[in-house]
Amino acid sequence: MQKVLMVCLGNICRSPLAEGILQSKVNSDEVFVDSAGTAAYHIGKHPDVRSIDVAAKYGLNIKNQRARKFTVKDFDQFDRIYAMDDSNYNYILSLARDDKDAQKVQLILNERDSYQNQSVPDPYYGGSLGFEKVYKMLDEVCTLISKKI
Ligand code: 4NP
Repeated sequence: MQKVLMVCLGNICRSPLAEGILQSKVNSDEVFVDSAGTAAYHIGKHPDVRSIDVAAKYGLNIKNQRARKFTVKDFDQFDRIYAMDDSNYNYILSLARDDKDAQKVQLILNERDSYQNQSVPDPYYGGSLGFEKVYKMLDEVCTLISKKI
């Protein structure tokens, strides 16, 4: 079983979408997908309604997810840890205990050649168009991830 963790800041906008999208593209007997946030603000909350709505528009139900905070134990539980942006990436790396932990962490958009070193934009303070854009970026990159794992 491959285990993949999607990480953003609040675990209510981007990483819940990334979790739902990748889960929809893989066999759940072979791949486990979860998500977490680097901040504690929204622990226990369901995803932002704008993420729930854009997911539903594309046929995915993410509304039962609950936000949690990334912990150092996640390095033991997961094989791949995908950060949505540089700030999430640097935070996760700051908790890595050794090279083995650090090697699990990647910027998610680095899975696509034309997005090298870019971040998934934080849509929290914008409107629904930002969520649509985030959905499309994550859908493209999760297709690539699903083919390689
Ligand atoms: P996320 O978006 O990291 O994609 O879940 C955010 C959610 C909440 C906040 C910032 C970004 N916040 O400042 O509360």
